[in-house]
Amino acid sequence: MSGPASEYWKRRRGFILAAIGSAIGLGNIWRFSWLCYKDGGGAFLLPYFIALLIVGLPLIILEFLLGNYFSGSSPKVFSRIRKEFEVLGWIAVIDVFIIGTYYAVVLAWVMDYIGLSAMNAWVSAGGAGKLFSWLIGSPWLVLIGLLLTWFITWVTVFKGVSGGIERACTFAIPTLWVLSAILVIRGITLPGADTGINWYLTPNWAALGNGQVWIDAFGQILFTLSVMAAPLIVYASYMPKKSELPNSAWITAFANCGYSFFFGFATWGIIGYLMAINHVTNPAHLKVPLGGGGLAFVTIPTAVSKLPGAPVTSAVFGTIFFIILWLAGYTSLISIVEPMYAALRDKFGVTRRATVSAISVLSIIIGLAFVINPGYIDPVDFITGTTNLIWVVMLESIIAAYYLGVKKLRDYANPYAELKLGVWLDALLMIVAPASLGIILVYGLLSTKAITPLSAVVLLAIIIASILLAGMSWRKKEGGEAA
Ligand code: ALA
Repeated sequence: MSGPASEYWKRRRGFILAAIGSAIGLGNIWRFSWLCYKDGGGAFLLPYFIALLIVGLPLIILEFLLGNYFSGSSPKVFSRIRKEFEVLGWIAVIDVFIIGTYYAVVLAWVMDYIGLSAMNAWVSAGGAGKLFSWLIGSPWLVLIGLLLTWFITWVTVFKGVSGGIERACTFAIPTLWVLSAILVIRGITLPGADTGINWYLTPNWAALGNGQVWIDAFGQILFTLSVMAAPLIVYASYMPKKSELPNSAWITAFANCGYSFFFGFATWGIIGYLMAINHVTNPAHLKVPLGGGGLAFVTIPTAVSKLPGAPVTSAVFGTIFFIILWLAGYTSLISIVEPMYAALRDKFGVTRRATVSAISVLSIIIGLAFVINPGYIDPVDFITGTTNLIWVVMLESIIAAYYLGVKKLRDYANPYAELKLGVWLDALLMIVAPASLGIILVYGLLSTKAITPLSAVVLLAIIIASILLAGMSWRKKEGGEAA
């Protein structure tokens, strides 16, 4: 596609920051450090690092190369490889669109919490846990957060690649790091922080004998890097041809994983403080959640409300924490909205402004279901945010390796690459990545209790919609190219 200049990144730096923005999200803040604690402390870094090297990195590189080589969204990429594969591109795009509908609802809670923490609302509510239950039960308040979140996201994506997304990420990502550094410094200097950090990082090598630890590491890597066969493909399509891509992938991956590790010090410094003031030596005895939404909305606020210098310091650090969480999620949400627009543009020739507006309104409408009943989030996330990602990305890797050929992509990228791609990439994409993903998929499905009728309906709806979209004809300009 030879689009207008505004539909390309202005600078390579902008592309990398946007990719990092897509990667760093809620998962880095509330899942990574909890997994470390639960899955062997510092020993967990080993499976995590292995997952990064043998699955995460090759797949980010692949998605960057696919998007740039075919200059387009996932349906276009897959239909160019072979017409029958187009449906996989639509599954990825619709899946990611649905992730956006509930991801934004979580960001709506975060948005409300920015205001609520500035007012120290946990004091008047009688505790952080009570405040959260109250918020979840106040749909109007959540709706306000949702509308604000979508308004900012809509404006960003509406303004296009360089004028909207690149600008937003160039501001948001450095801000995120600076605010996070403030929280890390506060976290590690609190009384008891060292005890918490010990729980985060003291290696328990015996834990590595447990299969679940490895599954957790591989599962986390896909979601955290936004390897979803959609956002990164589209972002890379906005780099001009003959661009450096492999090293950009390494930078994205290491910035993302480095951030998770770094922020863990803030989280566990603060948990250590909570342990100290409650006179417990084991975080399990705190009886508060140490990961997920509970960590963000209950545990951290509980600790923050008891900081030395409260209530002023609790308002300040509580607000900083929720601004960090919102910024991290916002730059991911942008990358979740863009692929659907890009796919519809490629296929039907629709304009950015009208399409992005329609996607935002539709997302708000679907999101209302999660506002009213947050209990829907887990079963839907199990399908769209976990299971589908694994099998879609597994097929992506197989299709690229066996139908297109990794060598073709390597030869395309290597002349401009700062880090050259060798046959190791072929081996990883042909065998190691699909095999690892296959194992996680089977293990995950066998051990889950999360499959509900709702999960099945969502899966079926995604597949039917994808088949219908793939069956429609391409706009004239693309038609000849699609075969
Ligand atoms: N990569 C994003 C996250 O971790 C989606 O939340």
